[in-house]
Amino acid sequence: MHLRTIFSVFGLAVTALASLNTSREYQLHTQLKPGQGTKKKFDNLWLVASHTGAGLNDAVLYTNQSSGIKGFMNATNITQPNGQPYFNQLFDLGGSFPWGLIIADVNFYSAWEPVRINAGDGQPSFFFNSSGLQWTENPSVPADQNAFGGWLVCDWWHGVPQLFAKWSYYHYENPSSCADVNLLPIYI
Ligand SMILES: *[C@@H]1O[C@H](CO)[C@@H](O)[C@H](O)[C@H]1NC(C)=O
Ligand SMILES: *[C@@H]1O[C@H](CO)[C@@H](O)[C@H](O)[C@H]1NC(C)=O
Ligand SMILES: *[C@@H]1O[C@H](CO)[C@@H](O)[C@H](O)[C@H]1NC(C)=O
Ligand SMILES: *[C@@H]1O[C@H](CO)[C@@H](O)[C@H](O)[C@H]1NC(C)=O
Ligand SMILES: *[C@@H]1O[C@H](CO)[C@@H](O)[C@H](O)[C@H]1NC(C)=O
Repeated sequence: MHLRTIFSVFGLAVTALASLNTSREYQLHTQLKPGQGTKKKFDNLWLVASHTGAGLNDAVLYTNQSSGIKGFMNATNITQPNGQPYFNQLFDLGGSFPWGLIIADVNFYSAWEPVRINAGDGQPSFFFNSSGLQWTENPSVPADQNAFGGWLVCDWWHGVPQLFAKWSYYHYENPSSCADVNLLPIYI
């Protein structure tokens, strides 16, 4: 049921031919959602790609904006209910091919999933609203049935805060090492 990550050597070879559209780049930073007063350290962190293998990164967050990676949108042919296209959330990591944001589906029964920044176009179903970057697991369902439950930042296995995506159908209390955040773009 979940969109599977499409990543193959073939996909990499194809997208390597695409030139990056750097005309309107932005960095993504966290905004702590209200009511989490003790978790201020997760506010205003900048999205960074942490290398985990050839063409593979985990999405992590640093305190310094200078380390924040440069993102841009590439419209897909899938239309949102408001008539705007969904987009691939791409990143310009300094090479000739794009890196795409992916919500990993590592365990159907977990309440949140790690987020990757892998070579290629990533998933085709991101959008922005006034709360920042959003995702839908399935673009064909109405917005009020979106299974995406927001962004979670946790002290996790890289020694720096790491980005996760929550499923909306679980309502667990966050661990003390995690906070609910928005991801807002700052244009550069
Ligand atoms: C953006 O999307 C177009 C149309 O789908 C595609 O041809 C192009 O390769 C994409 N650009 C990048 C940088 O992925
Ligand atoms: C490049 O990005 C801009 C801003 O997002 C967009 O308006 C434009 O259509 C894009 N150009 C191409 C060739 O995709
Ligand atoms: C940014 O912060 C990270 C850890 O949060 C650190 O490893 C890195 O050296 C810092 N970079 C700069 C340019 O200060
Ligand atoms: C939309 O783009 C995808 C990927 O490029 C392609 O497989 C699909 O056929 C396209 N659909 C339409 C309706 O153009
Ligand atoms: C933005 O989209 C998300 C995901 O669909 C939704 O939960 C949220 O309420 C929306 N925010 C606003 C301000 O509309």
